[in-house]
Amino acid sequence: MPRKTLARIDTEALRHNYRLACRLAGQARVMAVIKADGYGHGIGEVATALADEAPKFAVACLEEALAIREAGVNHPVVLLQGMHCADDVGICAREGFEVVLHSDYQLDWLAQCEQVPALWLKVNTGMNRLGFPPGMLGSIMARLGSRGLAQKVTGFVTHFACADDAASGFTDEQTRRFAEAVVDWPLLEKSAANSAAHFLPGQPMFDWSRPGIMLYGASPMLEKTGPQLGLKPVMSLEAPLTAVRTLRPGEAVGYGCSWIAEQDTRMGIVAIGYGDGYPRHAGTDTPAWVAGNRIRLIGRVSMDMLAVDLTNAPAASEGDTVELWGRHVSVDEVARHAGTIAYELLTGVTARVPRLYGNDSDPVE
Ligand SMILES: Cc1ncc(COP(=O)(O)O)c(C=O)c1O
Repeated sequence: MPRKTLARIDTEALRHNYRLACRLAGQARVMAVIKADGYGHGIGEVATALADEAPKFAVACLEEALAIREAGVNHPVVLLQGMHCADDVGICAREGFEVVLHSDYQLDWLAQCEQVPALWLKVNTGMNRLGFPPGMLGSIMARLGSRGLAQKVTGFVTHFACADDAASGFTDEQTRRFAEAVVDWPLLEKSAANSAAHFLPGQPMFDWSRPGIMLYGASPMLEKTGPQLGLKPVMSLEAPLTAVRTLRPGEAVGYGCSWIAEQDTRMGIVAIGYGDGYPRHAGTDTPAWVAGNRIRLIGRVSMDMLAVDLTNAPAASEGDTVELWGRHVSVDEVARHAGTIAYELLTGVTARVPRLYGNDSDPVE
């Protein structure tokens, strides 16, 4: 019998979140960002679940785009980091992938190939990771034109550094720099908005938005959880209670004996740990849920187990299912307790945890 540790993936919640992104994007079309194995949810299954609604997908690299094809989904796919070698050019052209160009050396690869895919030019408006400086776009376009590739250019992309912080003025500044940089090409497409930008009042969305994290029901904003933004959690991470015992005052639990009972404490051991992607830095008081009650972690997370205080859940017993995050405990809350972000938790669930796909958007009891 396998362990009952698993990640339930609610594909209806995924579609709900995609539709919310579409409403917030207004006139812009919405390409679904499903890199990093669909933010840990399974890239093939996510692409399949969104295929009827999303006209285009975005991923980081070629292997991810090919995984979408392997799942039988033939939509256009944007490679956000473009090609990593000259051989990628022909494959992208054949498969209908669109590549983001961010550096000169990628332009040189295009010259070596007969078939060239659709191109986006990345504009560095202040994130300073990838992209051409705004003032260089004219010369890049001229170079592409001189090689007969002007028709291959679909448009321009940029990426926001601080959109998660509604109080930051930098998203406005990046938007202004982007709009100014691309003003000479009114007929080409533009794309800037990540998930967070969908929640900024008055934010221009250009032609395509590119939400990722919000599709999975987690919050892109610093001060809010996903459910507070109208998002539905897509992943529920569950594991069984495998042991229940009462600790006497002075007894400790787990490595380092870091948590010590001050009174009789009914506690449980849950069959999940950092070997499954549950964060080791989630300490005492991180919430979980069992048998209709919120409970809390105690002590250190081990590789395959963690301990919970069952004081709030007197009816909980061995074999019961504990939700580590999902519909009752938001992944954003767990991330906060672990000193990280939901992106890291969702993408970090390991291959040991089976994903179970379903369609379960009933209201939470
Ligand atoms: C270029 C680019 N666009 C869009 C996204 C989606 O961002 P988010 O998941 O915050 O919506 C990412 C994610 O990192 C990205 O790198």
